[in-house]
Amino acid sequence: MVTGESLVVLDPDGRRDDEVWGMIVDSDKMAAALAAVAEVQDGMLVGLGTGSTAAFAIRRLGERVAQGLSIRAVATSAASEALGRELGIVIVDFAGVSRVDLTIDGADEIDSRLFAIKGAGGAMLREKIVAASSARMIVIADGSKQVDRIGAAKLPVEILPFAQAYVLALLAEMGGAPVVRANYRTDQGNLVADCRFPTLGDPQALATTIAAIPGVLGHGLFLDEVDAAYVATNGLVTRLERPDASA
Ligand code: 5RP
Repeated sequence: MVTGESLVVLDPDGRRDDEVWGMIVDSDKMAAALAAVAEVQDGMLVGLGTGSTAAFAIRRLGERVAQGLSIRAVATSAASEALGRELGIVIVDFAGVSRVDLTIDGADEIDSRLFAIKGAGGAMLREKIVAASSARMIVIADGSKQVDRIGAAKLPVEILPFAQAYVLALLAEMGGAPVVRANYRTDQGNLVADCRFPTLGDPQALATTIAAIPGVLGHGLFLDEVDAAYVATNGLVTRLERPDASA
């Protein structure tokens, strides 16, 4: 009989070895990405997400394209567009697209309701538009992103610079303690304020209230967009699927 024990990777001083830990997390990001990219089929229009986990998916797609897979893609950020093009993926302008077949993107938090917080990378506005236009949207993540209930991650809000003082005052009144990202503009040239609300007891109500503020262009609460998630922990990939509402 084989017995196992869990080992924590420690450096000689007994601290967690961040380099080794980073490699473990990266291999989980890659495992989740590989599982999601396996869903991509010939002829699809694919949404490319943004961030380090999405980049693993884009690289895997690039490999499959080099092996003969025929797809086109839209990108949720300039960075993902550049990576996709570099890998030989045909990128089309989303401005001319009304429906995407499958989008694969990362998240900062994801829970069992498939509610997600996104936007640490600042791309949440384009990410939400592309996700909303997608027949299927898959979140890919390492296990550190899986939570019981979303709410601990910073909630980013994209703000038209013209409206910044007004929007920041309202977000502060709502208890969001907004902090504007220093020296940062989104791909659209807007500001991002990271918020921390004391609780996210009613995420739908919060999402509706934030979205209704004139001058707010987008936010990182994804409550309806995610259809499935592949979450990898120590190499084991779990798929969460939103129940089919029409069934
Ligand atoms: C960018 C995002 C990213 O998908 C999210 O921040 C996760 O990034 P990473 O995979 O690098 O942890 O929403 O706007």
